[in-house]
Amino acid sequence: MTAAELKTETAQIEPSRTKRLRAATHDAHKVLDSFIMSAKPFENRVNFGKFIQTQYLFHRDLNAFFFNEALDQLLPDLKGRQRLGLIEQDLADLRVATPDSTDVPFNRDDTAFNLAEALGWLYVVEGSNLGAAFLLKDAAKLGLDETFGARHLAGAPEGRGLHWKTFVAALDAVELTAEDENRVISGAEAAFHAVLEHARRMMS
Ligand code: HEM
Repeated sequence: MTAAELKTETAQIEPSRTKRLRAATHDAHKVLDSFIMSAKPFENRVNFGKFIQTQYLFHRDLNAFFFNEALDQLLPDLKGRQRLGLIEQDLADLRVATPDSTDVPFNRDDTAFNLAEALGWLYVVEGSNLGAAFLLKDAAKLGLDETFGARHLAGAPEGRGLHWKTFVAALDAVELTAEDENRVISGAEAAFHAVLEHARRMMS
C-alpha cells in the first residue's frame, strides 16, 4: 500500500465526517502551517500584514457561501461565522492594502456550486479559528489583539470550543451520498491548496 492509499484508508475509517476531514487534510495543514511560520508572521507588523492579506484572499474566496440559503439551513449561525469584515478592519488598522482578488472561485449569484464541496471549504475556514487562539497569543507580542489588528483571530463570544462543537455537530449530521462525501474532502483539500497559494503569493 502506498502512503497516499494508507492516508485515504485511514481517513475513511474515522468515525465522523469532521474526523475524516481532519485525517485527510492533516498533511496539507502541516505544510501550510510550516510555510506560514517560516515566513515569520510575528517578527514584525509588516510580516503580520502579509499574513492578514493571505487571510483576506482566502476568506474572500469562500465569502459567497455565507449568503447561500441551503447552507444556512444546514449550519448554525452561518452568517455570524463570517470573518471577512474583521479581516478588512485588521488591514485598515495596520494600514495595509487590500490585495487584488479577481480570481474569486465562488460568487454570490452563482447557485451552481456544489454544496458538499462548500462544506469542505467551510470546515477549513471554521477549523482555522481553533488554531487562531495560538496565533492571537503571538500577535500580542506585536501589540495586536482582538480590538486592533488581530480582530479576525478572536474567539466567539460563547467560547471558541463551543462555537466549533456546534459547527462540527451540524457538519457531521448532514446526510450525503458517497459521491458527495468525497466532494466534501476534495472541497477541504482545495481550500488548503488555495490558502497555500495565497500565502506563497503574499508572504514569500
Ligand atoms: C490560514 C491558515 C490556516 C488554516 C486554513 C488552518 C486550518 C485549520 C483547521 C481546519 C483546523 C481544525 C482541525 C480539526 O480539528 O479538525 C486547525 C486547527 C489547528 N491549527 Fe490551523 N490553520 C491555519 C493556520 C495555522 C497556523 C499558522 C498554525 C500555527 C501555529 C495553526 C495551528 C493549529 C492548531 C494548533 C490547531 C488545533 C487547535 C485545537 O485543536 O485546539 N494553524 N487549523
